[in-house]
Amino acid sequence: MARKKIVAGNWKMNMTPSQAVALCNELKDLVKSDEVDVVYCVPAVDIVPVVEAVKGSNVAVGAENMYFEEKGAYTGEISAAMLVDAGVKYVIIGHSERRDYFKEDDVLLNKKVKKAFEAGLTPILCCGETLEQREMGITLDWIRMQIKSDLVDVTAEQVASMVIAYEPIWAIGTGKTATTEQAQEVCKAIRECVAEVYDAATAEAVRIQYGGSVNAGNAAELFAQPDIDGGLVGGASLKADFGKIVNYK
Ligand code: PGA
Repeated sequence: MARKKIVAGNWKMNMTPSQAVALCNELKDLVKSDEVDVVYCVPAVDIVPVVEAVKGSNVAVGAENMYFEEKGAYTGEISAAMLVDAGVKYVIIGHSERRDYFKEDDVLLNKKVKKAFEAGLTPILCCGETLEQREMGITLDWIRMQIKSDLVDVTAEQVASMVIAYEPIWAIGTGKTATTEQAQEVCKAIRECVAEVYDAATAEAVRIQYGGSVNAGNAAELFAQPDIDGGLVGGASLKADFGKIVNYK
């Protein structure tokens, strides 16, 4: 069965609750699609008003982060159960900004992935290399290491249902998109890694996004690649262009 494309916006630390609702209203008609799953991953404080604003539409809401503990004395953190109860379906885990600025490592991210599944959320697990790693020629080794460590003790059935986002760090927010060949090469390698750790059916089912300066001009070519099942979109998810990315064909 063909994989359904999935285009997710990653709003990052943008949009106050009232701005968030205004953006949802602006995008409402532009992001309609039967062919593509559409997700807005929004700041925690925007979740409740955004869930309300997209009610009855084709848009699902995601969080940008969560903590792996069930509940308790973890000041400032948000649990998977809180997200589920608020109407969240997806959660970004291991974005490079969290790995870098907030020192989230693969051991922690593995716990978050497992907790997300336990709670019924679909993780969007991010991976990606630095420019230095690319120039050293270790991109594929690095990505394979991230995927394997973040998915320890995750079942084949779970992996088949999740989303993996390949985001070369040097392409995020820089306007410097990976070439289509570079993006396809790594997304294919991720699928091969899943086939190796799990099996061919799981690799065939898992959806793999490309992220890093995706815009209305490059989405069609990127999403046409055999191993690219959509995109994780930062900057361009905050404007009307996001509708063009969803309806890239
Ligand atoms: P960008 O961000 O589209 O602004 O490059 C992508 C991301 O960080 O998910």
